Amino acid sequence: MWGGRFSSSPSALMEAINASIDFDRRLAAEDIQGSIAHSAMLAKQGIISESDRDAIHQGLQRVQAEIESGSFTFSKALEDIHMNVESRLREIVGDPAARLHTARSRNDQVAVDVRLWVRSAHDRAEAQLTDLIRALLDKAEAHAATVMPGFTHLQGAQPVTFGHHLMAYVEMFGRDRGRFRDSRRRLNESPLGAGALAGTSFPIDRHMTAKALGFDGPTRNSLDSVSDRDSLLEFMSAAAICAVHLSRLAEEIVIWMSAPFGFVRLPDRWTTGSSMMPQKRNPDAAELVRGKTGRIFGSLMTLLTVMKGLPLAYAKDTQEDKEPLFDAADTLELVLAATTGMIRDLEPVPERMAALAGAGYSTATDLADWLVRSLNIPFRDAHHITGRIVAEAEKLGSLLQDLPLAVMQSVEPRIHEGVYNVLSVENSVRSRTSFGGTAPARVAEQIAWWRERV
Ligand code: ARG
Repeated sequence: MWGGRFSSSPSALMEAINASIDFDRRLAAEDIQGSIAHSAMLAKQGIISESDRDAIHQGLQRVQAEIESGSFTFSKALEDIHMNVESRLREIVGDPAARLHTARSRNDQVAVDVRLWVRSAHDRAEAQLTDLIRALLDKAEAHAATVMPGFTHLQGAQPVTFGHHLMAYVEMFGRDRGRFRDSRRRLNESPLGAGALAGTSFPIDRHMTAKALGFDGPTRNSLDSVSDRDSLLEFMSAAAICAVHLSRLAEEIVIWMSAPFGFVRLPDRWTTGSSMMPQKRNPDAAELVRGKTGRIFGSLMTLLTVMKGLPLAYAKDTQEDKEPLFDAADTLELVLAATTGMIRDLEPVPERMAALAGAGYSTATDLADWLVRSLNIPFRDAHHITGRIVAEAEKLGSLLQDLPLAVMQSVEPRIHEGVYNVLSVENSVRSRTSFGGTAPARVAEQIAWWRERV
């Protein structure tokens, strides 16, 4: 393609380090789409003839069909997807193919290809997140009043509902979806027409190609257009944050499935057995959602590192953007799908949750609040009194709700029968009616708010 200036072909190692066709072939459809828009614009502007344009379009359609059917032969010697497509086009249509690259460089070509690719990756992520949110909403709705222990420090803290707990993840995944939306809006400008770095002397129409490719308009600075990869970085950052949330949920599923908790069951299709221990059912899918997070973080770190030392404008280092991008996107797609499937199939065990919700004096805060409300005791003092009552209960091995009134009165004589109304976990949950709280009525509001947004 540039043989004019060279007298010998590259060494085998040069080819090995230089060729990207093994991975950038995934940009074939975007590359062809970009070339169709570019050649249509060249003809419209009178830079190539209409008959050349038609030949190019027909040829590109055939190349596309060959790639889709698997009959296309990719060549390492041709380096990358751009040269592979163009070279095959030349075989098919002859001379008109040689005019396609007028007013274009592979630098703006690859920039537009990856932008188109990452734009659809945004759309896929957004759609998958919407699916996941729906699955969580359905499960949360069914369990808006299912009491479970709420934890801080993974120590029993206060009772909450399973629905409320799942809705916390809806909030996280909702923000993740917002991040993909924001990033997609920002990236939707076309770098095509930036040339190698400085623009071109041909009378091209960048607005036309931008529009044809579904962009809001062309990028404003040609140097930036060919050297910037932050649309990819933003996608991967959003993916990394989303992976954090998926990993936390996966971790909870692993904990909930363990025998000491026993909060949920997952059908066999999401678990595996052990080759040695016949009794085992392991939550491998959840563990792998947690485990694969590292790939997404790693990909983001790879591209941040590739970009951080590059002077303007294009440098070949940026070719290293694709493998981490594809791996992050593939991994995200897989873990989102697996998580949605697990959430749909998750079977909570309300008896186990309720049993543990009452353990560990989880309604002690309710007792302290009752002392404040009913006896007008300042909260700090009520906290102290409650601590002493819990210590008595601990000595007797009794739940708070079963503790005899006389024992409580030995700590604070003014306590009366009315206290038992607030000591059950159901009561505790029902009383948390502050905005965003765990009371079933409040959880129902949270669900309704989200229903309107999916
Ligand atoms: N395969 C290259 C990449 O992904 C295309 C751009 C090559 N441009 C160049 N001047 N060598 O970045």
